[in-house]
Amino acid sequence: AATKKYQFDIQVKNVSRLCHAKPIVTVNGRFPGPTIYVREGDRLLINVTNHAKYNMSIHWHGMKQYRNGWADGPAYITQCPIQTGNSYTYDFNVTGQRGTLWWHAHILWLRATVYGAIVIMPKPGTPFPFPQPAKEFEILLGEWWHHDVEEVEKQGNQMGLPPNMSDAHTINGKPGPLFPCSEKHTYAMEVEQGKTYLLRIINAALNDELFFAIAGHSLTVVEVDAVYTKPFTTEAILIAPGQTTNVLVQANQVAGRYFMATKAFMDAPIPVDNKAATAIFQYKGIPNTVLPSLPSLPAANDTRFALSYNKKLRSLNSPQYPANVPLKVDRNLFYTIGLARNSCPTCLNGTRLLASLNNVSFVMPQTALLQAHYFNIKGVYRTDFPDKPSTPFNYTGAPLTVNLGTSTGTRISKIPFNSTMELVLQDTNLLTVESHPFHLHGYNFFVVGTGIGNFDPAKDPAKYNLVDPIERNTVGVPTGGWTAIRFRADNPGVWFMHCHLELHTGWGLKTAFLVEDGPGKDQSIVPPPKDLPAC
Ligand code: C2O
Repeated sequence: AATKKYQFDIQVKNVSRLCHAKPIVTVNGRFPGPTIYVREGDRLLINVTNHAKYNMSIHWHGMKQYRNGWADGPAYITQCPIQTGNSYTYDFNVTGQRGTLWWHAHILWLRATVYGAIVIMPKPGTPFPFPQPAKEFEILLGEWWHHDVEEVEKQGNQMGLPPNMSDAHTINGKPGPLFPCSEKHTYAMEVEQGKTYLLRIINAALNDELFFAIAGHSLTVVEVDAVYTKPFTTEAILIAPGQTTNVLVQANQVAGRYFMATKAFMDAPIPVDNKAATAIFQYKGIPNTVLPSLPSLPAANDTRFALSYNKKLRSLNSPQYPANVPLKVDRNLFYTIGLARNSCPTCLNGTRLLASLNNVSFVMPQTALLQAHYFNIKGVYRTDFPDKPSTPFNYTGAPLTVNLGTSTGTRISKIPFNSTMELVLQDTNLLTVESHPFHLHGYNFFVVGTGIGNFDPAKDPAKYNLVDPIERNTVGVPTGGWTAIRFRADNPGVWFMHCHLELHTGWGLKTAFLVEDGPGKDQSIVPPPKDLPAC
């Protein structure tokens, strides 16, 4: 195994998109940021030096960080932010994982521009469990705002209003030629007739689940969230913020230029100008004057496509890559996802929107939870997060505009080492139903069941897939439905869990699991690094 070093300089740079230039926060002046290439088994040392006026913190999304939450990155959860002028080295091993993950700022809304790909190659001599591609490409899907994203965040979080929608989606930082002033810098990938390519697709958007397709070409899904899947072929993929999807695509059509396109999946009744961001899939030797054709993407509200697409995702579950699904459960959790309007004297119209799990809207602490836990600092958090809602109701019945008494607090759950956990995430019709991509830090989990309507504890568990459910780190809870996940709590630390829609995270749709140390000598949190930032 090797040690790989990266230097990340956080710096502000002027970038021009959609006919306007504006300063954005970047890593090394690049947007999107640099790709990290590493091999399974390697150690990574990434020194982050903050030259910008914002506090910074970087999360390595999907990296398990075994016993080593110090390198996980969410600000005020596992570390205090890296302040202007300071540095911190993220030091971690890439163990038991290979595939595509990504990194992003994990503070405020700075991940709008501070993100990049992580490519983990299998161990030397270990081939992919699918045909070897001729070449690989990283495709980062994102969003672009004319406004400063911090202004957009304030609007969403403090004024109690929905924030401005982004002005464009992007593919590798570029909206593509359907947008003004964007033709010149359109992303294009060149392919050769007859060859097969691997696309490592990442949804780095702040607030939108996205469809992605390539005109005339089908996509074979082979991996999601750095877990191999049973391959299946589809015309389009659906990918939620936080998720990654690897697809194989064969250049087997008439040599030409084809658009790749991405567009939001919007099942909530929000009016948007949902124009596709595009890039070009270009056969070698075809002149740029040939007009590309657009793929047909599912309609913005095509929930049926979303459900059937997600059903096709299965772990590969081969002898080499088994799906170790916990069959018995030590602790059952049932979390409702809701929205409420609470009073807020400092907000524009005296109220603000709060999102909650089991009616608890999470408040960010002033000290990082992992430090408070490790050094036994009292009064930072409480470990009484409710395992289930205090008053069950018809979760997905008629819309409820009442406030069921949403409370605020830094409340988390304490879990004994090695417990097998089941968590059912239930969407509700409190204010509105909506789809939520939930991400758990420090773990992958198995998606053992999902359904529309209310979860039925008497009937639904019998229908679980405990054989080859998809294993991942971020899962979409369907609109007006539920998702059940299972994992073994074998990674001690404090691990954030949140909706990966930045707007909802800001409204409090988050909590954390405090997984206690185990009795063994290699079952406790490692000591913190010397340069860990202080609050
Ligand atoms: Cu990719 Cu806590 O996030």
